[in-house]
Amino acid sequence: MTDWLNTHSMHTKTCGELCPQDVAHGSKVTLCGWVGRRRDHGGLIFVDMRDRTGISQIVFDPDVCAPDTFEAGERMRPEWVLRVSGFVRPRPEGTANPDMATGEVELMVEEVEILNSSETPPFAIEDGIETDELTRLQWRYLDMRRPEVMSALRLRSSVTAALHAAFNQRGFMEVETPILGRSTPEGARDYLVPSRLNNGKFYALPQSPQLYKQLLMVAGFERYYQIARCFRDEDLRADRQPEFTQLDVEMSFVSSDDVLGMMEDVMAEVLASVGVAVEVHHELRSTPVPVVTGVQSSVRFPLPRMCYAEAMGRFGNDRPDIRFGLELQDVSELVAACGFKVFAGAVENGGVVKAINAKGAGDLSRGEIDKLGEVATTYGAKGMAWIAFTSAGEAKSPIIKFLGEEVLEALKTALDVAPGDLVVFGADSFEVVSAALGAVRLALADVLGVERSGHSLCWVVDFPLFNYDDDAKRFTANHHPFTRVKDEDLDLLESNPASCGSYSYDLIMNGYELGGGTLRIHSRELQLRVLKAMGFSEEEALEQFGFLLDALSFGAPPHGGIALGLDRLIMLLGGFESIRDVIAFPKTSSGGDPLTGAPAAVETRQLRELGIKLS
Ligand code: AMO
Ligand code: AMP
Repeated sequence: MTDWLNTHSMHTKTCGELCPQDVAHGSKVTLCGWVGRRRDHGGLIFVDMRDRTGISQIVFDPDVCAPDTFEAGERMRPEWVLRVSGFVRPRPEGTANPDMATGEVELMVEEVEILNSSETPPFAIEDGIETDELTRLQWRYLDMRRPEVMSALRLRSSVTAALHAAFNQRGFMEVETPILGRSTPEGARDYLVPSRLNNGKFYALPQSPQLYKQLLMVAGFERYYQIARCFRDEDLRADRQPEFTQLDVEMSFVSSDDVLGMMEDVMAEVLASVGVAVEVHHELRSTPVPVVTGVQSSVRFPLPRMCYAEAMGRFGNDRPDIRFGLELQDVSELVAACGFKVFAGAVENGGVVKAINAKGAGDLSRGEIDKLGEVATTYGAKGMAWIAFTSAGEAKSPIIKFLGEEVLEALKTALDVAPGDLVVFGADSFEVVSAALGAVRLALADVLGVERSGHSLCWVVDFPLFNYDDDAKRFTANHHPFTRVKDEDLDLLESNPASCGSYSYDLIMNGYELGGGTLRIHSRELQLRVLKAMGFSEEEALEQFGFLLDALSFGAPPHGGIALGLDRLIMLLGGFESIRDVIAFPKTSSGGDPLTGAPAAVETRQLRELGIKLS
C-alpha cells in the first residue's frame, strides 16, 4: 500500500496498484480517480478508472451494487471524478489483460460517490494520441492526465530528488539567488522587467546565476548548488526554451579535474537511480580516457575526454555524438597538388580538405547523395564532392577525372576504401569544412540507420577563450567573460587573443550539450585584462562589472563550476524529442503559452505606473 495514502486522503489504494493480494485480503478497497474508457456489456458496466499511478478496471454489476449506484455507472462519462468502494476479485477466466499492470483483477463497485462531472475533453486522455501539440498545450492539464506525460514529469521529479541527495551528501549548500537582477552577459538576449519604483530602469531576469554563484564563493560558501530557473530571450528550438532549469554548481579551491570528477560521481549516482546501467572504474581516474566511438551497453566512468580541437577535427562538432564513427579525416596533403582546383585551391589558401568514408553508403542513389550535398551547403559549404564505390566494383563520381589515378589510389588507401563505400569531401576553411561535414556526418547516420541506442557521455575540454565575431569585429567570450585563461597563454592575452586557451569543459550526452563550465578568474587585474581584450574600455568594464571587480579584490578564492541543462538531461533520459515534453507548462516555438495566453497585453494604468509608453 502506498504509505502516503494511509494517512491523509479519501482513498485506501491507488488505481495503479490493485493486485491479486487484494483478493486474498478480502477487505474493502476505496479508489479515487477519473473515468477513462467506459463499456456497457449487457447489464455489466466496465470503467477504466485512472489516477496518477495507473488504471484499474471497476465493474458495476446490478447483482453487487444498489440500483442507484448502477444507475450512476450508466450515467458517468469520461473524465468524471469518482470515489468508489468495493471488493477486488480476479477477472473471470480469459478476460485478464496482460498489457495492464492491474489486468488480473477488477474492483466490484458497492458504493460510488461522484465527486465531479466533466465536459467532453477535446482529445482522448490516453497514450499514443496524434493530437497536435498546440491543442495539447492549450489543454495542458488534460494532456498531463495522460500516463506518458505524467511519467515524464515523474522522471523529472526523481532525477531532481537524486540530485538534491547527491549534492547534500557531498557537503554542498543550496542557495537561492535573485530572479530580479542585473543583466549577466551569457550570450543571449535578456528578459527585462521594468521597475515601478525606479522608472526608466530595468531588472534583467538571470540567464544563469553565474555572477551570484561567484559572489557566493567570494563569501566563502565553497560548495554551492541550486536547481535554478534561467531565462534567455533567444530563438527557440527543440532543446531550447525561454525559461529553463539548470543544475548549477560552484566550488572553491578546485582544479578542472576536481569539478569533472565530482560531476562524474554525481552523474553516476543519478543515472543509476533512474535505471541506466553504469560502471565505475575508480582505478582509471588518474589518466584521461580517450574517446572511442560505438554503442556501449553501459555508461562507463570515468567518462572519455577530448579537447575541443580533437572534437572539431574528428567530428566537425564540439558536441559530438560518439555512439557511431563516420569520423572526418584530413586528406589535405594527399590532394594539395591534385588536378581538382577546388581541393588544391582550398589547401593553397590555408584551408583543409577533409573526407568521411561512409561504409555501406556506396550504393546510395544520386538523389540521396544530392540531399547530403544540400546539408553541406546549408552549413556554409560551396559544395560536397563525392566518390561512390558501388558494391559492383565501380567508382562513380563527378570529380574522379580531375583527381588522377595516383591521387585516387592514395585516397583509397588512406581512407581504407572497399566496394560499397561512399566518400564525401569538404574543401574550405577549417571552420566551414567542420560545420558542413559535421552536419553531413549526422545526416549520413540518419540515412544509413546507424545504431544509436543507449546513452553516451563524454567531456569536451579546453575550448578557446574567445571567438572572433566577424560582424561586431571583436572577440567575444566562448563560454563567458569570467572564464580563466590557461596559465601558459596569459602572456598572449593582448598580443594574440585568438590563440588563448581556457580552463573549460562541456559535458556531452548523445550529441547534445548537456552542460558546460569553467574555472573562473579570481583576480581583479586578470578580469579587467580579459574584459579589455573583448573590447571593453575600463569605464565600461567598471560600469557593468564594477561589483564583480570589487568582489574579486576582497580575497576571492580560486573557484570554478558547471551548470547542466536539467530539461535536456530529462529529455535524453526519457528518450523524448523535445524539452517541451519534460516541462509541465512549456512555451511554444513562438514563446507563447497557449493555455494562459501569455504573453498578453496589460492595462494602460500598469504601463503608466512603470513610466512606459508603447510606440
Ligand atoms: P551555459 O550557457 O552553457 O552555461 O548553460 C548551461 C546549460 O544550460 C542548458 N541551456 C538550456 N536549456 C534549455 N533551454 C535553453 N535556452 C538553454 N540554454 C542553456 C544547456 C547548457 O549546456 N553559467 C554557465 C555555466 C557555468 O559556467 O557554470 C552557463 O549558464 O544544457
Ligand atoms: P564544380 O567544379 O563546381 O562543378 O564541382 C564539382 C564537385 O565538387 C561537385 O560535386 C561539387 O559539389 C563539389 N564541390 C564544389 N565546391 C566544393 C567544396 N568547397 N568542397 C567540397 N566539394 C566541393
